[in-house]
Amino acid sequence: MEHTLRVFASIACAILLLQGVARAESFDVAQPASKSGQADPHQGADRLFGEIRTYLAATDTGAVSRPRDPASGVLAAASDPPASGSSARAPSYIDPGVCAGCHTQEAQNWAHTTHAKVFTLNPRNALEGQQCQACHGPASEHLRNPLNKTTIIRFTHNGGTPIAQQNAQCLTCHRGGQRIFWSGSAHEGRDVACSDCHNPQANFSARGLTAKRSINETCFQCHATQRAEFRRRSHMPLPEGQISCTDCHNPHGSTTRPLLKANSVNEICYGCHAEKRGPFLFDHAPVRDSCTNCHAPHGSNHEKLLVTAAPLLCQQCHIQPGHDALLMTRGNMAGSSFPDVRLLGRACANCHSQIHGSNSPAGARLQR
Ligand code: HEC
Ligand code: HEC
Ligand code: HEC
Ligand code: HEC
Ligand code: HEC
Ligand code: HEC
Ligand code: HEC
Ligand code: HEC
Ligand code: HEC
Ligand code: HEC
Repeated sequence: MEHTLRVFASIACAILLLQGVARAESFDVAQPASKSGQADPHQGADRLFGEIRTYLAATDTGAVSRPRDPASGVLAAASDPPASGSSARAPSYIDPGVCAGCHTQEAQNWAHTTHAKVFTLNPRNALEGQQCQACHGPASEHLRNPLNKTTIIRFTHNGGTPIAQQNAQCLTCHRGGQRIFWSGSAHEGRDVACSDCHNPQANFSARGLTAKRSINETCFQCHATQRAEFRRRSHMPLPEGQISCTDCHNPHGSTTRPLLKANSVNEICYGCHAEKRGPFLFDHAPVRDSCTNCHAPHGSNHEKLLVTAAPLLCQQCHIQPGHDALLMTRGNMAGSSFPDVRLLGRACANCHSQIHGSNSPAGARLQR
């Protein structure tokens, strides 16, 4: 539906554009020259934009959070009066108490939520005072014809209301704040709806009105890969409920990919692992660059979330001639006749224990 509208809108625009250009040309021919020898360049363009605006108003692009024409299901233009003689009626708000008459269960569930408390006890403006209709939109046409899907804004899957319109409805009150970068974010771009993560219809969680009991379960609905990663033998205590995805990510959008809450990976990690921030007398370059050079943030089957086992981890970068570059032989493996210290236990870190940086005057090689 939404897609069809967009296609229609772009075709309409293209036609208008061509017509406009043609008209602007004929305009030049018909009135060849003013005194200065120039035709008024604005007149044709004004008319053209006026027409485009009228068409756009009938699409999502031009009509964020405007009521819909209940007959056609098309978004009504803000300034368009309802076409006289047609059966179309602009929906209007009805007494907020009426919904509970038919939707008893929904009204009871909703009554315990933050929204209900604010909207019924202390509405800050007229829209909040509309209660259910603050989200679901004016309901007069819904009362006339509840079975027609276009008479009310539905947030349920396959409810028929375009996702952009659903989200715009929430954003009338929740623009800005954490959602300042919502527009253009990975989730917005993939048509994820506010209601995929939030269910304001009832309290399913202790806070945040999340759709599932916890933030993590809410994310796991779609991110099965990350859920599996957090099941690996080394992981931060997320499945145990100590931290959540939103400690590191802002699902509403961010300037740092992928939806990170801070300006860099390291800044996020320093938030909890402050001792890794330094400053150090001797830095280890890859640590300053990014913790993800060596650690997998969601989990790993190696010790300490490492992306690969030491000494290979270190040998990815340290290949200069010397003890660090020597390939370990089978005879050096743990349990063989000549076990090599570089393969046992913490491997290279047996000696280079200050791998994140050293503050010892003699710590240039990160051993102390
Ligand atoms: C006269 C009874 C009646 C009243 C009053 C009423 N509704 Fe409904 N509503 C219905 C019926 C019946 C349906 C089921 C339509 C369907 O399943 O397609 C419905 C469906 C809905 C849906 C769509 C549910 C979904 O599956 O997504 C929403 C949202 C809704 N109503 C909200 C409201 C709100 C808000 C009010 C008050 C402003 C209200 N209704 C008042 C009868 C009513
Ligand atoms: C803060 C916005 C908001 C308010 C206020 C609100 N709803 Fe909803 N409603 C939603 C969302 C979002 C959903 C979709 C929930 C989901 O994911 O299934 C929904 C779903 C519904 C449904 C579909 C059935 C269901 O439970 O999923 C009905 C019916 C409904 N609402 C009626 C009402 C009524 C009646 C009120 C007032 C008593 C109300 N809503 C208040 C946002 C709201
Ligand atoms: C008419 C204004 C309005 C609309 C529309 C609205 N909200 Fe709210 N919302 C509020 C107010 C007011 C609060 C409570 C005070 C606050 O946090 O600012 C709130 C709180 C919330 C909270 C935090 C709840 C908590 O317990 O911490 C969430 C999540 C939320 N809204 C999601 C939504 C979603 C999703 C939609 C759309 C389906 C929506 N809101 C539509 C006004 C609105
Ligand atoms: C991908 C999942 C996801 C989507 C999509 C999403 N949210 Fe949230 N939102 C969350 C989570 C998780 C929290 C809880 C954050 C916390 O408690 O740390 C939250 C918190 C909130 C809060 C309360 C905190 C605050 O910022 O005041 C509001 C309000 C809110 N969301 C509104 C929205 C609106 C409006 C949309 C749609 C434009 C939306 N959310 C889309 C996951 C999501
Ligand atoms: C309804 C499904 C859905 C839910 C629920 C959901 N996501 Fe997503 N998420 C997506 C989709 C789709 C993408 C885009 C994937 C792509 O483009 O490869 C995405 C991408 C992401 C990305 C990567 C962004 C990037 O720039 O590559 C992060 C991080 C993310 N989601 C975090 C979260 C968090 C945290 C939650 C829970 C609060 C959550 N998601 C809940 C569907 C979802
Ligand atoms: C400790 C911080 C942290 C936590 C907790 C966390 N992430 Fe991430 N996540 C990251 C970092 C850092 C990256 C970037 C990885 C990179 O650049 O290699 C990332 C990347 C992602 C991506 C992009 C694809 C990928 O795997 O690189 C998605 C999707 C994602 N996270 C989802 C989630 C979800 C869902 C949760 C909760 C179950 C979660 N993350 C918890 C730090 C975290
Ligand atoms: C919200 C707080 C938080 C953030 C942010 C955070 N961590 Fe952690 N991290 C923890 C906790 C809690 C533990 C478990 C500590 C314990 O068990 O003693 C942990 C443990 C670890 C461990 C040791 C794992 C093991 O198996 O012993 C590593 C490595 C680690 N984190 C790396 C990172 C990296 C890299 C980042 C940034 C992408 C990061 N952490 C961000 C809280 C956090
Ligand atoms: C050059 C690779 C490398 C980089 C980059 C790196 N680490 Fe580590 N990290 C390690 C190794 C190796 C261990 C295991 C050390 C051991 O066995 O004593 C470790 C262990 C840890 C531990 C658990 C043990 C402890 O020291 O508390 C945490 C937490 C940790 N790293 C956090 C971080 C953070 C945060 C960053 C980014 C600022 C980071 N690491 C960057 C290699 C690295
Ligand atoms: C991503 C690449 C990378 C990884 C992985 C890495 N390092 Fe480094 N390391 C460097 C760079 C770059 C320097 C700085 C070299 C310089 O200043 O000449 C350095 C410096 C060092 C130094 C100081 C030596 C000197 O010449 O100043 C030691 C010791 C060291 N690394 C040990 C390790 C160990 C042990 C590991 C595995 C736990 C490791 N490194 C993993 C890139 C890496
Ligand atoms: C038995 C202790 C020990 C082990 C195990 C060890 N190193 Fe060293 N490493 C040292 C000492 C001591 C120095 C300092 C030599 C110097 O100052 O001249 C050093 C120096 C270095 C240097 C600085 C450049 C150089 O060659 O002088 C790098 C890089 C390095 N080690 C990497 C590694 C890597 C990678 C591993 C694991 C494969 C490793 N080391 C295992 C003790 C060790």
